[in-house]
Amino acid sequence: MNDKLKILFLCTGNSCRSQMAEGWCRQLKGGEITAFSAGTAPQGLNPHAVRVMAEAGVDISGQRSQHVDAFKDRPLDAVVTVCGDAQENCPVFPGPHKVFHAGFPDPPTMAAELAAQGASEEAQLDCYRQVRDQIRDYILTLPEALQLRPEEIRAQVRSRYAGIAVRGGSCCSSSGCSPQPLGSPSASASVGYTAEEMAAVPEGANMGLGCGNPQAVAELKPGETVLDLGSGGGFDCFLAARQVGASGRVIGVDMTPEMISKARANARQGGYANVEFRLGEIEHLPVADSSADVIMSNCVINLSPDKAQVFAEIFRVLRPGGRLAVSDVVAIVPLPPELRADMEAYTSCAAGAAQVSELEAMLRQAGFSAVSVEINEESRAFIKDWLPGSGIENYVRSALIKAVK
Ligand SMILES: C[S@@+](CC[C@H](N)C(=O)[O-])C[C@H]1O[C@@H](n2cnc3c(N)ncnc32)[C@H](O)[C@@H]1O
Repeated sequence: MNDKLKILFLCTGNSCRSQMAEGWCRQLKGGEITAFSAGTAPQGLNPHAVRVMAEAGVDISGQRSQHVDAFKDRPLDAVVTVCGDAQENCPVFPGPHKVFHAGFPDPPTMAAELAAQGASEEAQLDCYRQVRDQIRDYILTLPEALQLRPEEIRAQVRSRYAGIAVRGGSCCSSSGCSPQPLGSPSASASVGYTAEEMAAVPEGANMGLGCGNPQAVAELKPGETVLDLGSGGGFDCFLAARQVGASGRVIGVDMTPEMISKARANARQGGYANVEFRLGEIEHLPVADSSADVIMSNCVINLSPDKAQVFAEIFRVLRPGGRLAVSDVVAIVPLPPELRADMEAYTSCAAGAAQVSELEAMLRQAGFSAVSVEINEESRAFIKDWLPGSGIENYVRSALIKAVK
């Protein structure tokens, strides 16, 4: 059985960048990816691209320049557009596949600019070499950067949070412990919890894994049924339980058995009769249709490799008029592929963050109205401690996401 991923690299002319990407992919990732390339106006192979790739030991002279329509009904796992953001519009892929963008500058345009200034042919070829090397670095991050293997991602996420549940808190990264890493209970004050809230829950329930305080904006009322997605040690569930009272009910869902055991032990310790914890994935909620008044979540949806499915599930489970109140990490600018491909950054609630516009589109697509995403600019200060030195604080922020069914 051939289970290699099939990836199509797309640009306008299919003469240079997409051809280089196909060549690098074959050379570096041939064991796991079958690569193709195409263009919306194929121009034939660019001889300079062929030459600089040969210099790097990759023969692309046998590749063909072809039209994208040839692929519209072919099975593909992903389409990657490689046009440069600033100079061109990216071609639109005609089929129903996942489309990603990785912008590279256009060597012929760069070389033409140099030629106009009287630069040598060698200096012009350097433009091709520069882009060739950028494309190589990008291909090295595949397929992880595209998050095309959801089960592998879930396994890594589950393994990290199982470890945290067993250790009981701090999840200092392999790069070393920072003053307030994700997983430090003392960090909860900086993400918006009051000292009274932190003191009100059973010991060990606050694992410092949140990035905001969703129940503070959920406007919970006595008697309501509340669902908490990715409930961890149960911190937000126990706070919600005080607000909905004995006539209300709180259900926490988490896919990590060790977290569920910990949360159940915490509930027993605190004597909570109106809180229960269920093992399950937020992409397939173990909860009946139209049964929840409010769905909360804290720093979890970013960890899902299928966020559109999570929002579809939330919509199914909320009753009409029900509210969504989520604290999560969102991308304010696209993350570089190497950070996206970094599994430690992913499981640390950073690299899987969706862009604000994508989140809004997914929520509307799922059927929600009154969608709002409120970015907490100050979160930069604590996010930088999650992965010191990675620069992640330049790309993501914590945000409060609200919507109504
Ligand atoms: C960063 S922790 C947040 C825990 C909790 N919400 C808090 O604020 O303390 C993420 C939690 O979500 C769970 N989780 C991650 N992805 C999940 C998924 N796809 N389905 C269910 N649970 C998930 C993890 O097991 C972990 O307990």
